[in-house]
Amino acid sequence: MIEFNSVTKSFGSQRAIDDITFTCKPGTITGFLGPNGAGKSTSMRVLCGLSRADSGDATIFGRGFAQLENPGREVGVLLDASAQHAGRKGREVLAITALTLGVRPGRVDELLELVGLAGAAEKRVGNYSLGMKQRLGIANALLGDPRALVLDEPANGLDPEGIRWLRGLLREFADAGGTVLLSSHLLKEIDAVADDLVIIAGGKVVSEGTRDELLDGRGTTVKSPDPIGMTRAFESAGIEFRAIDEATWIAESDALSVSRAALDGGVLLTHLDEQGENALEDLFFDLVSDQAAAA
Ligand SMILES: Nc1ncnc2c1ncn2[C@@H]1O[C@H](COP(=O)(O)OP(=O)(O)OP(=O)(O)O)[C@@H](O)[C@H]1O
Ligand SMILES: [Mg+2]
Repeated sequence: MIEFNSVTKSFGSQRAIDDITFTCKPGTITGFLGPNGAGKSTSMRVLCGLSRADSGDATIFGRGFAQLENPGREVGVLLDASAQHAGRKGREVLAITALTLGVRPGRVDELLELVGLAGAAEKRVGNYSLGMKQRLGIANALLGDPRALVLDEPANGLDPEGIRWLRGLLREFADAGGTVLLSSHLLKEIDAVADDLVIIAGGKVVSEGTRDELLDGRGTTVKSPDPIGMTRAFESAGIEFRAIDEATWIAESDALSVSRAALDGGVLLTHLDEQGENALEDLFFDLVSDQAAAA
């Protein structure tokens, strides 16, 4: 369990995060979304004791990071993959963490294998690509076999195979009862993996809940090769709609009503999805522009 309780943090006169409150539950992946400068990294830094909150507190399993007896055994943290000693070899980085945490040394090779760095273990980290640094950071976070993971933009720099691998790894971790707080700019990435969503903008939580709660009821994505027929079918059925492109629409109605309208109009459908492919993006931009308008 990870909890933020009314956490506020300013830098000089600027309030980076403002009264942030949310919970990440065991067995779930919480996707932490927000535009650049929204306060995601600041929140995570406060959680991990790297930055002191002005007020409020953030806890991991009920305690502040600094109060955890052996933090790396409780929570795996990856905040900045580039923040590694460039002169050390990948294996050395993990070996030092293993020593610090009191983890058996054999675990280092297991983790190198798991993250796909076995072949690069003797290379210096300064010569790693960004994706390789992320993989090393993920290995470092997992080394202590923690019950929680706090990852800031871990998919940044990963190739498509790496992104899919990370997704599987996080799913498995959460399914085994782990708690995951995961930030990303990549809405599609979060969409594919998160159970819960927390969206922040301008330092404030603007929306939170389960992915399904937040995305349900945001319209049905409809695709048809017959734009004229589809438009007519929407109109005859009295369904509000807007076009995404010449063959895609978001209908303000459920899938059954859209399907019936298409059938009545004799129109072919190639895609019908109540949690449309753009649902998260639409929600994100609605919320973020609301926040900008309120600021
Ligand atoms: N050490 C610092 N000193 C001054 N301002 C800071 C500091 N750290 C963060 N900020 C400010 O706090 C705000 C939130 O930054 P933060 O890095 O938390 O955003 P973010 O959501 O992680 O953004 P990004 O998506 O770009 O990573 C920004 O306006 C940033 O300039
Ligand atoms: Mg950040």
